[in-house]
Amino acid sequence: MKHMINHFNTRDKLRSLFSFFERLCHSDTNPSSFSLERIELSSIDQCNGRCRYCYLWKGKRKALELKHITDFLISVQELTTQDTIIDLTGGEATLRKDLPEIIQTCVTSGLIPNLVTNGYRLADKNYAKQLCDSGLRHVAISLDGFQKSNDYLRGNGSYEKVIRALENLAEQHVHVVTTSVITSKNINELNDLIDWLEEKRYINGYNLQILTNYFGRYRDKEEWYKKSELWPKDTRAIDTFTKQLQTGLEKRKTIPSISASQVQFWNTYLKDPGSFKKKSDIECTIGNKFISFTPYGKIKFCHVLDSVGSIINNDIKTILCSRMSQRRRKQIKKCNKTCNYILNCQYRLLVEG
Ligand SMILES: C[S@@+](CC[C@H](N)C(=O)[O-])C[C@H]1O[C@@H](n2cnc3c(N)ncnc32)[C@H](O)[C@@H]1O
Ligand code: SF4
Ligand code: SF4
Repeated sequence: MKHMINHFNTRDKLRSLFSFFERLCHSDTNPSSFSLERIELSSIDQCNGRCRYCYLWKGKRKALELKHITDFLISVQELTTQDTIIDLTGGEATLRKDLPEIIQTCVTSGLIPNLVTNGYRLADKNYAKQLCDSGLRHVAISLDGFQKSNDYLRGNGSYEKVIRALENLAEQHVHVVTTSVITSKNINELNDLIDWLEEKRYINGYNLQILTNYFGRYRDKEEWYKKSELWPKDTRAIDTFTKQLQTGLEKRKTIPSISASQVQFWNTYLKDPGSFKKKSDIECTIGNKFISFTPYGKIKFCHVLDSVGSIINNDIKTILCSRMSQRRRKQIKKCNKTCNYILNCQYRLLVEG
């Protein structure tokens, strides 16, 4: 009898060991193995901006029904952690009348909503308060420079609106970060802009990002930057920009979102973007950490590759465990595109590759 119990124990142990390895091997078919760090909810492709480098506003004017969004937010909870950030973006998310409800549902689903916005509607104090009262505590607002260059790049009157939005958000004590795209039109003033932002104690950080063709006019065209009037082509301007940025880093000891190696990367990349290629044996790290939800209800693992399913027909767990998702994950591992994510978040893969 004792012998039999031992035998069963051993068999059970083997079985559980086997099922552990099975789960490990098929972790992408097991919903509990997902732990999303970031979700991008692009709920509308309309935009009230007309930025020179972005063509998202030419979308098909699609805004997904609120029900699909709330169902998604409730069901995705199981795949997230208490630190998962959800970027509310578009187009321009503030064009959705139901944005306050979306923010509330994010909060009740345990997600941290971060509004990615051009800030125009936040220039209205009451609207800014309404969003914050709904639970918004994080905002990323686009600002490319001082009045002349910002308005050239992002449209007349955009600077004034963003400044008012920043003041309104300061009154609400939310965490605000600015984002600037590095272009030929603002490269000479980005360091002054950083100095100015540093003085404003209510602005918590600033990001700089490389101009890409993924939201742009020359999508998928090789060497598109050669044709773009916005690509910084003046090498002296690039050197001055990166030198001042390095000095700023040394002076301030730290700029949270910018590192010395990134500045060095910008210097070489801006001068010759074509010479950087991600090697296919270096895996893209986007993996199981990120999903993007499009205004058409599609789920994507990154901005560039095709979707893996639609939330209108399936729940999120079924989509993430589907064969299509498994195929896409394999594709991600081999992908060697130099996309926004790689350029702005994982530039090390290009440098070290
Ligand atoms: C696509 S927008 C959507 C959110 C919102 N409408 C806004 O402007 O912040 C998100 C960010 O992408 C940036 N962006 C747009 N087109 C870009 C491009 N071609 N290259 C790099 N960044 C771009 C914008 O400046 C903005 O900071
Ligand atoms: S960058 Fe934002 S504000 Fe500008 S056109 Fe694109 S989506 Fe609209
Ligand atoms: S490298 Fe490829 S898989 Fe990775 S984020 Fe870019 S386009 Fe997507």
